[in-house]
Amino acid sequence: MQIKSAIFNMSARNLQSAPDWKRPEFAFIGRSNVGKSSMINMLSNKDALAKVSATPGKTQLLNFFVMNETWSLVDLPGYGYAKVAKSEKINFNESVGDYLEQRENLRQVFVLIDSRVPPQRIDIDFINWLGDCAVPFALVFTKADKQSTGKTQTSIAAFLEAMPEHLSGVPPVIISSSKTRKGRIEILKLIEQGLST
Ligand code: GTP
Ligand code: MG
Repeated sequence: MQIKSAIFNMSARNLQSAPDWKRPEFAFIGRSNVGKSSMINMLSNKDALAKVSATPGKTQLLNFFVMNETWSLVDLPGYGYAKVAKSEKINFNESVGDYLEQRENLRQVFVLIDSRVPPQRIDIDFINWLGDCAVPFALVFTKADKQSTGKTQTSIAAFLEAMPEHLSGVPPVIISSSKTRKGRIEILKLIEQGLST
């Protein structure tokens, strides 16, 4: 699939203030700093569409981007980052929860996992929770440029081993790098499939 246009539409504080449209949506979630916003830029072929930062907790709102004038990418605030005021953090986590649980036009979620770290409790717990939502998800192992292919493979195997057992089947797994653009075609393929269902 070709990306012909990618335009920032709006930031929303919660589900209630999210855009009132029927466009199919594809959302990116994962721990703070895992590379969600960088991935939106990589998919869009735009360096600065979504705001990227080396400091975790950069994305604080639900950000909506319109792609090819017909569907949408959603950049979500990361989880597992506590430096923001407690009330604010809870609010944002709730917004993400509400969005993932209730957004009717949400077609697919991409859960980003840092390919360099051993399985993290917070990712497993999140996937466990997501498994109870009706929406399909894929796992994207990020920052693969930072280590050897062998290390990434070992990391993925360990993660899949640690996945909750009650999930029906293994979700699609993609290895990515926003730096080398690895995984871009695979992610766009999943989006294309999601658009045709
Ligand atoms: P929050 O909005 O804080 O939750 O973070 P995020 O998940 O949106 O991460 P972001 O895209 O802002 O990236 C965090 C840092 O990781 C930045 O310094 C990026 O340049 C870097 N980064 C992201 N993806 C990659 C990648 O694939 N390879 C490398 N080498 N660095 C990356
Ligand atoms: Mg971000």
